[in-house]
Amino acid sequence: MRNIIFDCDPGHDDIMAIFAALANPEEFNILGFTTVCGNQTSDKVTKNLCRVLSYLDKDYVVVEGEKKPLIYNPEPQPLAHGESGLDGPILLDGKIRNKNINYLEFLESCLSTKTTIMALGPLTNIAKLISEKPHVIPNIEQIVIMGGSIYGGNILEKSEFNIYADPHAAKIVFDSGLDIVLAPLEVCDYCSLKHNVIDPFKSKGYVSNLTYEILEFFSRYSKERNKDKSPIFDLACTMYLLHKEAFVGKNAYVDVVLEGENRGQTIINYSSDGNVLVLESANNEFLQTKFIEYINRLDLEYKNNR
Ligand code: RIB
Ligand code: CA
Repeated sequence: MRNIIFDCDPGHDDIMAIFAALANPEEFNILGFTTVCGNQTSDKVTKNLCRVLSYLDKDYVVVEGEKKPLIYNPEPQPLAHGESGLDGPILLDGKIRNKNINYLEFLESCLSTKTTIMALGPLTNIAKLISEKPHVIPNIEQIVIMGGSIYGGNILEKSEFNIYADPHAAKIVFDSGLDIVLAPLEVCDYCSLKHNVIDPFKSKGYVSNLTYEILEFFSRYSKERNKDKSPIFDLACTMYLLHKEAFVGKNAYVDVVLEGENRGQTIINYSSDGNVLVLESANNEFLQTKFIEYINRLDLEYKNNR
């Protein structure tokens, strides 16, 4: 059993990564959630996460983290995630609320024991943790990051959003010497869901219905471009920990462009003693089947607990 913390900006795909973890309680002991300004403002993404966890009746600690990147200004992405940061479902406030404590102190308390960090948004919180609480570093078992790209970007020609949003933070994390696994855009394509897999979730069960509403919005972009599937980026991180055998990756030195027209580009130089395991490909069919299984499992769990 692995202790994990999600540091995230939910975000449609963040929620799917969280669902996959919630469906596997024998694999993951979730210690809590920190949020970061990314796809939307930190207050919006925190509210989204609290509402989803309330919907599921899951009692976890959620702590709002940084409201802006280390150097640059926030750049919310309403085209990808909507004005709320999680457009699609209509969710109400529930019993889970942002815990009004310092997120670095919360992470420090979680890291009194070996814990893996699932970094699903810009790396601002994690860079601050490394800089301001260096004594916790030995207890960071691994950081699994969704970010960067090998060939082409999604926010600039060569840059992926999470790294673009806070390249200075990403550089601190990549240079930290920690055990890092990187899921760049290319491997996230292998964590795509076909539209004809998403559609049957509609009205099927309590969790599958929410999954449908979330993914229906998130897949609009791909549908409008006549693609038959949508990448569910952050899902790659949880799927990697659950099914390492389904992924192929190589060690590399990863550096980050801090400014200019390629701001946020990840520069990947393959080397067996590199600082990062860069995932490259995965078994798409297998991971898709597993994802369906996990959502069905959450439906059943919800039904059995009523
Ligand atoms: O580029 C994809 C990333 O940006 C994902 O983490 C998504 O949730 C958004 O934050
Ligand atoms: Ca995210």
